[in-house]
Amino acid sequence: MSTTLIAGGTIVTASGTIDADVLVEGEKIAVVLARQPGLNVSMTADRLIDATGKYVLPGGIDVHTHMEMPFGGTFSADTFETGTRAAAWGGTTTIVDFAVQAKGTSLLATLDKWHAKADGNCAIDYGFHMIVSDVNDTTLKEMDSCIAAGVNSFKMFMAYPGVFYATDGEILLAMQQAARSGATVMMHAENGIAIDQLVAQAIAAGRTDPVNHGLTRPPELEGEATSRAIVLAQVANCPLYIVHLSARQALAAVAEARDNGQNVFAETCPQYLYLSLDDLARPDFEGAKFVASPPLRPKEHQDSLWRGLRSNDLSVVSTDHCPFCFKDQKELGRGDFSKIPNGMPGVEHRMDLLHAGVVAGQLTLPRWVEVASTTPARMFGLYPRKGVIAAGSDADIVIYDPAARQTLSAATHHMNVDYSAYEGMEITGQVVTTLSRGRPVIDEGTYAGSTGHGTFLSRGLNQYLV
Ligand code: URP
Ligand code: ZN
Ligand code: ZN
Repeated sequence: MSTTLIAGGTIVTASGTIDADVLVEGEKIAVVLARQPGLNVSMTADRLIDATGKYVLPGGIDVHTHMEMPFGGTFSADTFETGTRAAAWGGTTTIVDFAVQAKGTSLLATLDKWHAKADGNCAIDYGFHMIVSDVNDTTLKEMDSCIAAGVNSFKMFMAYPGVFYATDGEILLAMQQAARSGATVMMHAENGIAIDQLVAQAIAAGRTDPVNHGLTRPPELEGEATSRAIVLAQVANCPLYIVHLSARQALAAVAEARDNGQNVFAETCPQYLYLSLDDLARPDFEGAKFVASPPLRPKEHQDSLWRGLRSNDLSVVSTDHCPFCFKDQKELGRGDFSKIPNGMPGVEHRMDLLHAGVVAGQLTLPRWVEVASTTPARMFGLYPRKGVIAAGSDADIVIYDPAARQTLSAATHHMNVDYSAYEGMEITGQVVTTLSRGRPVIDEGTYAGSTGHGTFLSRGLNQYLV
């Protein structure tokens, strides 16, 4: 079994920092040994990684990605191969992607289809959530089979009527079914019925530019849908996880439910922390690069989101990585913003953008690791295999240089998309080395991974349920 010693670094965990060395044996962490004056223990290994001056982190876990997702008449541009490679460049060692049930198809056939897309193609480990878009007796029964197959989180949509939308009654039925096994329902909480009316009014009035995507999806309609989802989950006694929360109205609803002791959790994404409605309003159709749902909000929402991350009303930061190229894909919506495929790239830069939040004083170092790795692992049944640097855990480890400077750009990123949402942004901090189950995927700034190294993760239940 090959061994690697990571020596001289500062381990950052969700509970603090510690100057310690890590011995990796095969795919697992064998020993974490604190360096103390007077204590002289020598460890030898096949390979020595000198992490002096660097952080040593548990690999990032991005629980919201969409590789090769069918959407808006096209497919998101990253395959499992290109997307997981890009993730590793940014220090993410696990993704949880969404299998997408098409109307009229079964959940189990959908799961098989997503296994066929991912198996043998991923550079890092992966799991699946299931998008339920067709609630009927068969689907409801199949939810149990999904859970037995290691997929125990089900995303539903209050948005996109005619595509993924589910009625309140359908949502209640699915929540009742999930609740029987302790599974989690994940909710895209926007009032799609009201939004569709606003969209039709805007198009009829000739307001067709990308900024209208944001203006027709007001934050109040995210707040309203979030509150409704919370009430439905309360009635069904079902754990609820609000995905890609963007608006302070929605955050207030989540905070209230959590104060009341309900099993309600939420994530936000870097785009809502850093980008705004102003980006959607960029001229010459450039705003299309920023079309995602929920939309980017006016800047005032950002402070509330950072505060929510500190207070744990927002527990996780994921990316909702769903890239569409500007050319030929985003361009499908020239002259009609409602035809722009919804989604933005981001899987590569989540750890960096959150570290930038640490540098800016928005988050502490341990909170960075907690929202990007440890809590996602616990929330989606991967802990302690993932999300922690401890003996016995998978050796998913990132060596991070907190002093490196980098400029985000499409010219240098590794995602299979022709633009960067953060083009030209200068940040401090960069991944040096990423290990996935003990194997280097990124090795001192060079790709060293292999397609097919990543394995499917059968996940347990949410570990935060009260
Ligand atoms: O615009 C987005 N968010 N696209 C991906 C699908 C989803 O709703 O998460
Ligand atoms: Zn969504
Ligand atoms: Zn999504």
